[in-house]
Amino acid sequence: MIKISPSLLASDFSRLGEEAAACFDAGAQWIHIDVMDGHFVPNITLGAPIVKSLRKCTPAVFDVHLMISDPYKYAGDFCSAGADIITFHLESDSNPAETIALIKSLGVKAGIALKPATPAEAVFPYLTDIDMVLVMTVEPGFGGQSFMENQLPKIEAVRRECERLGIPMDIQVDGGIAAETAPLVKKAGANVLVAGSFVFKGDKKAAVELLKQPV
Ligand code: DX5
Ligand code: ZN
Repeated sequence: MIKISPSLLASDFSRLGEEAAACFDAGAQWIHIDVMDGHFVPNITLGAPIVKSLRKCTPAVFDVHLMISDPYKYAGDFCSAGADIITFHLESDSNPAETIALIKSLGVKAGIALKPATPAEAVFPYLTDIDMVLVMTVEPGFGGQSFMENQLPKIEAVRRECERLGIPMDIQVDGGIAAETAPLVKKAGANVLVAGSFVFKGDKKAAVELLKQPV
């Protein structure tokens, strides 16, 4: 089944709680929360206290995407704040195995994100320990960028390896997901679609329904 995770980065930050609730009401089971530290990526967004406040507004799965240099240091704060799954970048400074173990020890699911230049094979050693692989389809740091079609083979390669290992992995895509690009990523093997601009620029329900269509 395809899961949709609207990215709050594209929402009205003065009404974050209502925006998160509206996504769930529109049929999105997940909410994607982009955390940026101004170091791993050029922007700064929000931290654990905001995630904690949002927790009161919706029962949606909190899908926290850490675009920060030291996820090991902050993952615990996001677990306590109510994250259901925490995805950190393989390119960050933290030790991946230790970061996965920490997140899971706190009862939260763990995911690994790959920037566009990182090959699929880099995540293979961790596949048996994680719940999700996030294949970035733009350079992390900004919403509203164009989808990178050259990431499709990476999605296919991760799906192929998970099937070879017999692991029912969630494969998430993030960046430039819209009506034209959603079928491409689904065909390649992605089953969790993040969408910022596409969901928040118009009718949320129609956008979520369209993205959810099976290929
Ligand atoms: C980019 C973020 C994305 C972003 C996607 O660094 O990780 O989640 O919000 O935005 P769209 O869907 O507009 O490309
Ligand atoms: Zn994201």
